Amino acid sequence: MAMNKPYDICIIGGCGHAGLPLGLAFANQGKRVVLYDKDEKAVRGINAKRMPFMEEGGIEVLCRTVDSHLLHATTDISVIEDAPVLVIVIGTPVDEHLNPRLHDVMEVVRQIVGYLSDEQLLILRSTLYPGVTSKIHDFVRSLGKKTGVAFCPERIAEGRGLQELTTLPQIISGCDPQSAERATSLFSLLTPDVVELSPIEAELAKLFTNAWRYINFAVSNQFCMIANGHGLDFQKIYQAMTYKYPRLQGFAQPGFAAGPCLFKDTMQLSAASNNNFFMGHAAMLVNEGMPNFLIETLKAKVGLKDKTVGILGMAFKANSDDSRESLAFKLKKLLELEAARALCTDPYIYQPGFVGAETLIKESDIVILAAPHSEYKGLCIKGKYVVDIWNFFGEGVKI
Ligand SMILES: NC(=O)c1ccc[n+]([C@@H]2O[C@H](COP(=O)([O-])OP(=O)(O)OC[C@H]3O[C@@H](n4cnc5c(N)ncnc54)[C@H](O)[C@@H]3O)[C@@H](O)[C@H]2O)c1
Repeated sequence: MAMNKPYDICIIGGCGHAGLPLGLAFANQGKRVVLYDKDEKAVRGINAKRMPFMEEGGIEVLCRTVDSHLLHATTDISVIEDAPVLVIVIGTPVDEHLNPRLHDVMEVVRQIVGYLSDEQLLILRSTLYPGVTSKIHDFVRSLGKKTGVAFCPERIAEGRGLQELTTLPQIISGCDPQSAERATSLFSLLTPDVVELSPIEAELAKLFTNAWRYINFAVSNQFCMIANGHGLDFQKIYQAMTYKYPRLQGFAQPGFAAGPCLFKDTMQLSAASNNNFFMGHAAMLVNEGMPNFLIETLKAKVGLKDKTVGILGMAFKANSDDSRESLAFKLKKLLELEAARALCTDPYIYQPGFVGAETLIKESDIVILAAPHSEYKGLCIKGKYVVDIWNFFGEGVKI
């Protein structure tokens, strides 16, 4: 890396859920990292040593690296010129028709391209629609720039990034051998386990990874629905199936499979296969149908019209403050139509109208555990109809 620049690495979208852990991980290895982000509030917070969201071990590393001037956040785009390596980690959602919004990532590239120089390496870290790395490479070349381009997909589980960045293998790919080599040496700072693919292979590897997980959850959720349709406790069957049976290792447990990545990446893969990814669509129908399944089952078993129903945990998953694409909100909407009253609580998310967990339990006839936060372990929910598709309370998965 050239040493005449003030920073070693600039992360674009550096205050986000994937960008910030990556910046912290590199700064933790002694690299001088600048986080470029358009979110002024997050930038101010990070420079004042405040984490914008929950991340295991994040606050300690943030304080240490800001204090030692290894990590700095800015909204000033000209900082792009100040590091030999640039990493783009902005969001890559799907649109209302479930097609990838390629515009977002191309727009960022357009914004930064004027600042790029031939010696720099541009690493794309966002999850990308197949072929976009090569498109970005061609665009940069069309402007006469020789900047290296690489694609190295992020595969962390949100909230555990700092730990996983140094324990999971890194998939890297480059548009030319030098870019791949530079990306390999960069990620070797975090882990000795680096696997090289071509850009299109790496783009598919990332989408396949998330689609596989999404389908795995859907299989379990559908089995759970079938077992419950027979009036049975799915947990009992699941335990028997997986007991000392290695071939079912990794078979997910039922739950709300949601969040900002799995759904949209499965839909990106579908769009990339002429919408012929039937298993991906089937998984979407099952996973997104889970709240409807709970409502229909409750309507048939106990009735909802005169009931107050409390939703415990509004985040998209346990021990997270991220409500993006959370199925708890879909459940809330359905309950507002079908039940007398819907109450919501979450220790990490506050919205007007939300109540504390104790109030929710006291006032509800039915309590649905939507996000199994650790805090809920000790809760006393006696005398209520409890719906726990996660088997978090250990009472089985029978609605
Ligand atoms: N969240 C995760 O744990 C995770 C895990 C694996 C992969 N990914 C992938 O990483 C990418 C980022 O996801 P995320 O969850 O971190 O998104 P995010 O929304 O949390 O973060 C994106 C950041 O980019 C910033 N940004 C957006 N446009 C910008 C611009 N034009 N200029 C400067 N900053 C800009 C935003 O302000 C935000 O801080 C996505 O492609 C996602 O699929 C995320």
